[in-house]
Amino acid sequence: MKVALAYSGGLDTTVMIKWISQRYNAEVVTVTVDVGQDEDFSEIEEKAYKSGAVKHYSIDAKKKFADEFLSRAIKANAMYERSYPLSSALSRPLIAEETAKVALKEGCDAVAHGCTGKGNDQLRFDATFAAVAPDLKIIAPVREWNMSRDEEIEYALEHNLPVNPVKSRFSIDENLWGRSIEAAELEDPWTEPPTEAFKLVKPLDQTPDKPEEFTIGFRNGVPEYINGDRKDLVTLVRMLNVLGGMHGYGLVDHVEDRVVGLKSREVYEVPAALILINAHMDLEKMFLGRRFQAFKQQVDNLWADLVYSGLWMDPLRKALDAFIDESQKGLDGEVRLRLYKGSLRVVGRRGEKPLYSPKYITYARESVFDQRAGEGFSKLWSLETRLSSLREKE
Ligand code: ARG
Repeated sequence: MKVALAYSGGLDTTVMIKWISQRYNAEVVTVTVDVGQDEDFSEIEEKAYKSGAVKHYSIDAKKKFADEFLSRAIKANAMYERSYPLSSALSRPLIAEETAKVALKEGCDAVAHGCTGKGNDQLRFDATFAAVAPDLKIIAPVREWNMSRDEEIEYALEHNLPVNPVKSRFSIDENLWGRSIEAAELEDPWTEPPTEAFKLVKPLDQTPDKPEEFTIGFRNGVPEYINGDRKDLVTLVRMLNVLGGMHGYGLVDHVEDRVVGLKSREVYEVPAALILINAHMDLEKMFLGRRFQAFKQQVDNLWADLVYSGLWMDPLRKALDAFIDESQKGLDGEVRLRLYKGSLRVVGRRGEKPLYSPKYITYARESVFDQRAGEGFSKLWSLETRLSSLREKE
């Protein structure tokens, strides 16, 4: 038997290489997908081979992640439960897809992942595996082996696996779009996350005393410029994570509803995601009409819900994206933002051909709106209210 394993280089998946090869008498091919996590990929490769992998793939998917996942998330203002910009959720289908593609290429019989049976990530991996490689068996050792963290470390030492038992007490997932932090004392929702849990966002007593203003320019709803300079999305997101984090902006502390029916307390560092989504939502208000916005909000919510629930590959998500793409045509403009001491303010916006029309709205005499039209409209607008009131008085 031959198995392709989505390999992060962490404790779980390192133990898994050995465990799968013993339990299933299998050859394990490891696949590490670079979605912008801060890791040494050659070190991960070395670890994979030391743990018994027969072959290792290291795949740089940062550009694909930005262009095909993050740009769509921005256009969809993607927030789960109005709080979580889906940083982990968006990366899973891509990691799973790349792993499944390797499995097909290598003629594997199964694909494997390191997700637990309590979380959302298993759904995201399983659904993407099902879509890309429907005939392959799925192996998820954590759902099977029932080992505690200490038992895993013991297993690793026993088999001479290269693991680092003194790593962070938190469970961390990281990529371009943000950092998710769970476990240890964070499991008590009353406990404030300690500063050492954070990497991107500075504590407020270390942030600059001067506010910082900058602009983000959009083309068809996708951010392409910072202060007028054109940047690819990977670079732009990186820059904004640094900029926002430096000003103490970008933390989310969220009691979240998992798909499996469990509530969990999740902490996220997501400066770039929050900056870009806030800027984008603001710019949309310049362009989209009232009913268009209201309808799009429903589409956006459904989009976020699908992605959170692991259904990236579902045809409905693609159909929603077709609507969203249509809604973003001509959404060209610029948003002016200010960061200061943990806060973000939109202080200005302008569009190339917005619906917002100063000529019509102005209080000055030059307005082109003929106010006499208001009288008839207003009379009809209140007609029903008037009739109801007359009925009561009768
Ligand atoms: N709750 C988030 C989600 O379901 C993050 C999951 C991964 N978090 C972690 N610390 N390992 O998308």
